Amino acid sequence: MKIGMLTSGGDCQALNAAMRGVVKGLSNSVKDLEIFGFYNGYKGLIYDNYRKLSAADFSGILTQGGTILGSSRQPFKLMTVPDENGLDKVAAMKKNYKKHKLDCLVILGGNGTQKTANLLREEGLNIIHLPKTIDNDIYGTDITFGFYSAVNVASYAIDCIHTTASSHNRIFIVEVMGHKVGWLTLYAGVASGADIILLPEIPYDSKKVLAAIEKRHKAGKGFTILAVAEGAISKEDAKLSKKELKAKMAKEVHPTVSYKLAKMITDETGSECRVAVPGHTQRGGSPCPYDRVLCSRLGSAAAGAIMDGKFGYMVAMVNGETKLVPLGDVAGKLKMVDPKSSMIAEVKRMGISFGD
Ligand code: F6P
Repeated sequence: MKIGMLTSGGDCQALNAAMRGVVKGLSNSVKDLEIFGFYNGYKGLIYDNYRKLSAADFSGILTQGGTILGSSRQPFKLMTVPDENGLDKVAAMKKNYKKHKLDCLVILGGNGTQKTANLLREEGLNIIHLPKTIDNDIYGTDITFGFYSAVNVASYAIDCIHTTASSHNRIFIVEVMGHKVGWLTLYAGVASGADIILLPEIPYDSKKVLAAIEKRHKAGKGFTILAVAEGAISKEDAKLSKKELKAKMAKEVHPTVSYKLAKMITDETGSECRVAVPGHTQRGGSPCPYDRVLCSRLGSAAAGAIMDGKFGYMVAMVNGETKLVPLGDVAGKLKMVDPKSSMIAEVKRMGISFGD
């Protein structure tokens, strides 16, 4: 059996653990296993940059962050645009897949990666997709690997800010990753006792944010912690069209929404508001035990699907069970935090403000 493997898009802590799960699951039963590891995501498949790997190459990497194959961002919308030398990227990927006589291609990645995986499926390649992203925004799976490891890092960052904020009686914003969704901010914010949590899915009203800070001060609390998603948006900006928002952002002087909010809070309260950005540390380091288990299960389930000849699926985790979800049903869809979910109601009941 010949399988290709690649990791694409922003990395996360648990990519190696997932690949190890696939290879261990296969190598226990398949005697003639050949593994083609394509370097730096789809780039490796397009330009045939790969290394032949053995099962031994996947030993000892369970706890290792990053990816032994490297990764890169290859936006889906550019996949159908020829490269600078006129190369048709999709045709090149098909050609290399066929040249190596691969039985299937295991693709680990997030939303954009999944769209290209689905395109390759439509082009007739045997594809298995594994849902990776710290953002947890892949539709059709309850959880993506990398998410809980990132929650640990972001929570630790907020915990650390908590102690210094309380010593100095300061207002602090911790900006959390998550692209267009708020899962990471929501979980890290709740896990670390943030007082105000701002998510893209719940546009904020500046007056409500100020009122929540004021309420704490009146209650004698000297400090306030805001967990702000990098994609958080004000109610007024949420009303703008995509084009209008883009034009407004082009004139924006603050590097991110957190700095804009910090200026507003400082001006309005007279108390200095500081910003802390853990940034890419949220994708780094070792996978947490939960992710190691999740990746072992998803990887092994992928191996099972490959041995059964089932292709064209994402291996998902649904209600604690692995499930093969047709790629065509989920590619291009985003899983967002539901503002009407019980979790949001529970968090609100505890007095945490979403600024809405
Ligand atoms: O999708 C993962 C993610 O870390 C997002 O949370 C973030 O918006 C983005 O990638 C950052 O991408 P890059 O590493 O390309 O700056």
